[in-house]
Amino acid sequence: MSNLVIVGTQWGDEGKGKIVDLLASSADAVVRFQGGHNAGHTLVINKKIFKLSLLPSGIVRQKLSIIGNGVVVDPLHLEKEIRDITNQGIDVNSSNLVISSDSFLILPIHKYIDTLREDQKKGNKKIGTTGRGIGPAYEDKVSRRGIRFSDFKNSRELEEKFISIYNYHNVWIEKFEGKEISYQNDFETILKCYEKLSKYIDNTWLLLKQLNDKKRKILFEGAQGFYLDLDHGTYPFVTSSNTVASNASTGSGTNPNQLEKILGITKAYTTRVGNGPFPTEENNEVGEKLGKIGNEFGTVTGRKRRCGWLDIVMLKKAITISGINGLVLTKLDVLDSFTHVKICTSYKINNQIFEDYPSNISGSQHVVPIYETLKGWEEKTKGITNFEDLPLNAQNFVKKIQLLANCSIDIVSTGPERDENIIINEVFN
Ligand code: GDP
Ligand code: IMO
Ligand code: MG
Repeated sequence: MSNLVIVGTQWGDEGKGKIVDLLASSADAVVRFQGGHNAGHTLVINKKIFKLSLLPSGIVRQKLSIIGNGVVVDPLHLEKEIRDITNQGIDVNSSNLVISSDSFLILPIHKYIDTLREDQKKGNKKIGTTGRGIGPAYEDKVSRRGIRFSDFKNSRELEEKFISIYNYHNVWIEKFEGKEISYQNDFETILKCYEKLSKYIDNTWLLLKQLNDKKRKILFEGAQGFYLDLDHGTYPFVTSSNTVASNASTGSGTNPNQLEKILGITKAYTTRVGNGPFPTEENNEVGEKLGKIGNEFGTVTGRKRRCGWLDIVMLKKAITISGINGLVLTKLDVLDSFTHVKICTSYKINNQIFEDYPSNISGSQHVVPIYETLKGWEEKTKGITNFEDLPLNAQNFVKKIQLLANCSIDIVSTGPERDENIIINEVFN
């Protein structure tokens, strides 16, 4: 197996970072291909906590870490993240970090617009974004106004691009705020920051081709989750990139034939941060308990995550569209103290039963989840590394999910630490 794609199957925060870090031990390179620093991937290694937003999680093992063309990069944030991780003892240098010259920049004005749009006091509709400028940056990319790292070769043309972006957005900002944003300060700040980052910037599709030619093992690290995908997620309550596994190809410039194993990361329950529909949400003491035991607070914004039971209807769509051929079930230990655990197997909408995810569920639609209820195990599973050592009811829970999802569960995660896993099938060696 030379290449592996890791993607989230829910609304993000499934534990992708932990699993990327685990499997990165066998990788020659780890690649981010979409999203930006809206992601928050937490790694726990011997009680030491690493929080990564933009750097591929492979950096902690000092693996070649590549930020692909599909990622939007806030250079000011990246510089800080490199500084922070360096202070934690991780050496980041131009041999282990390479950023695509084709990736687009998040500028300070994008962050400003994102925050302004989310300001309900101004009568705006809230998506509940991370406020990091992700949406506005991708919009400028799609509208062919965006700035890439390759644009820094010619500073006169770059300045013209800055002026044109700021002029475009200022029409709206002026109307809203009664004042315009000047490009000049931001331009100078970003130029200075670029000087520090330029040593990392290169032609990454070619680098990936060279790695593939040498049969090196590449791990593609997804950010967010399937239901935050711009096309397939709970639109408009989604992020602004494609989070499906096929984007590992477009977002990195890797030939799709080279994406072999696709691993879907699934929490043993479901969480969502931000607004939008959530059929199995438990907006009650069950949700509170899941959140408390699972420590469900956003890495990026610190917001409380909404919690509910595992949803197989959702999982099946993610498996189908992302081409997932193996699952990792994370946070099994969070369910240890529940007397009963539930798995949603279908929805009832207007008296009709749906086993397959219906087209665009909206917040106002009344979706009744239909559950299979299993007996809990009420025993500690944290840190267990052998499947047979799991309490019988926990084994049954895992087997049931495998059966309902019709996909093999290759790994079960039983704690946040790097070695708290049950490896059922070797997926990347
Ligand atoms: P990501 O965005 O998908 O990488 O996930 P996050 O890092 O945002 O959120 C997952 C959280 O759960 C992190 O704090 C992890 O340390 C933690 N975690 C991961 N796997 C497990 C597990 O099996 N059990 C427990 N209790 N925590 C886990
Ligand atoms: P990781 O990689 C959970 C959510 C935001 C919001 C929506 C749009 O850690 O799983 P954006 O800032 O992207 O425009 O916000 O997407 N969101 C995430 N939720 N985990 C993430 O990343 C997320 N990245 C974005 O909360 O609902
Ligand atoms: Mg996260």
